[in-house]
Amino acid sequence: MASQCERVVGLDLSSVFLQRANEHKTNWTQDTSNVTFIQGSVYDVPFADSFFHACRMDRVMQHLDEPQRAILELLRVLKPGARLVVGEPDWDTLILSCDFEPDHVAVADALRASMRTVIKNPYIGRQLPALFRQCGLKQTTCSIHVCHMHTKDESILYSLPQALALPLRKGAITKRQMNDYIKMVDDFAGTGAFYASLNLFVVSGVKAD
Ligand SMILES: C[S@@+](CC[C@H](N)C(=O)[O-])C[C@H]1O[C@@H](n2cnc3c(N)ncnc32)[C@H](O)[C@@H]1O
Repeated sequence: MASQCERVVGLDLSSVFLQRANEHKTNWTQDTSNVTFIQGSVYDVPFADSFFHACRMDRVMQHLDEPQRAILELLRVLKPGARLVVGEPDWDTLILSCDFEPDHVAVADALRASMRTVIKNPYIGRQLPALFRQCGLKQTTCSIHVCHMHTKDESILYSLPQALALPLRKGAITKRQMNDYIKMVDDFAGTGAFYASLNLFVVSGVKAD
């Protein structure tokens, strides 16, 4: 993106994520002098109306109280005719290669239920196309990309014990079921049989003239 644009701006609320982005930047081989990362909220983007030629947002709306307000704010800073692209997961689509025995299915279902509670907008992926149309975006398209996770480390399941703490506390699963499940995931990972996937909805639209 940097090589095709005069200027690229990355915005995030978290100083930790911005520091990580700046560290990544030092490893890029191409010229990055036109790329800046700034701290700020997507509800209040510190740029004038109709400033940007294009905007992309990745896995932020799942965490927002007011997703529609974020889209409208991004539309404000986009030029008429500019494209907005947003990618968001749908947490009902989380599957693990080892979820087929009754006891394991119970824990996997509890894990999905836990993610639906912890994530503010767990179904935002499937809701995005309608949201784009409600916000007046034109030429809306939607594609679904499967995020394949072949190791436990590259999956969200590095936090499996934390993710299962809620269903355990609520009595949806027993401690034995939880520990068996964690052991089973570790065994799968140890033999290279681990696989998990999550669908990412990528929705694109154009700001009306
Ligand atoms: C799953 S991470 C995705 C990070 C990054 N977009 C990426 O693609 O790697 C979610 C990010 O949303 C950011 N975030 C949450 N609320 C925000 C807000 N109101 N404005 C801007 N960023 C926000 C968090 O700080 C976090 O970095």
